Amino acid sequence: MPAELRDVYEQQYSASDADARRYGAWRELCAQGKADHVTRLIAALPERPRTIADVGCGDGVLLTLLGRRGVGEVRHGYELSERAVRLAEGRPEIARVERFDGESLPVADGSYDLGVLSHVLEHVPDPLPLLRETARACRAVVVEVPLEDNLTASRPSAQAGRDAIGHLHRFSRGDVRALIAAAGLDVAAELTDPLPRTVHTFFAATATARIKAEIKAAGRRIVFSLAPRPAERLFTVHYACIGVPSAA
Ligand SMILES: C[S@@+](CC[C@H](N)C(=O)[O-])C[C@H]1O[C@@H](n2cnc3c(N)ncnc32)[C@H](O)[C@@H]1O
Repeated sequence: MPAELRDVYEQQYSASDADARRYGAWRELCAQGKADHVTRLIAALPERPRTIADVGCGDGVLLTLLGRRGVGEVRHGYELSERAVRLAEGRPEIARVERFDGESLPVADGSYDLGVLSHVLEHVPDPLPLLRETARACRAVVVEVPLEDNLTASRPSAQAGRDAIGHLHRFSRGDVRALIAAAGLDVAAELTDPLPRTVHTFFAATATARIKAEIKAAGRRIVFSLAPRPAERLFTVHYACIGVPSAA
């Protein structure tokens, strides 16, 4: 992967002191929703997964929260960023963390019951090979991405925000489902989430910003509850699905 993209990930995990605590709290807040999604989606599998690989695991917080919920018995993380690997290695819920090249997993076919690609594919220049590689190594795969092919996210300011955090793709639900199919998987279950109030308000630094964030969160929840599919075309929701080997 290009060096400048690699630097984006190193920087995201390299904040010091107060910033590190703040970003750590942010990642943990977001991971609560992600862990809820994985827990819901694995109900579609015939058996609860025992072994889990989190591919692009970041600082390992999602595996930690899954561990605390009793999801999986053996949890491994694979990650590009050296700094994130060091953060993840310190977590007792994770048996092993390995630095990987973003392309290949050093394991035999079907080594894991479940693979997780959480907020990874939108960062990868060509996402299909990594999804195929995860599907090779894992007997089922949870994919979660933000659906950013919508009206609100098409504003130039939104594009600048995506550039800063390394999003290379603006996926629609159809795009993700096409990737899943191209990787030889069927979608066994899927969900979308407009995200809770706490996520929308986390970075609001002033009373005014907080009120605006509260209104935005409430408005989105109302629209989403009335018309979830059209809502995807208006603003960003998170989409998660579980893919299993295609029956075809
Ligand atoms: C936003 S973080 C997500 C971390 C974690 N999965 C989560 O949900 O919090 C994006 C992750 O994508 C992975 N990633 C970014 N670019 C990649 C690439 N080109 N190939 C493979 N993985 C990549 C990195 O490991 C990075 O930690």
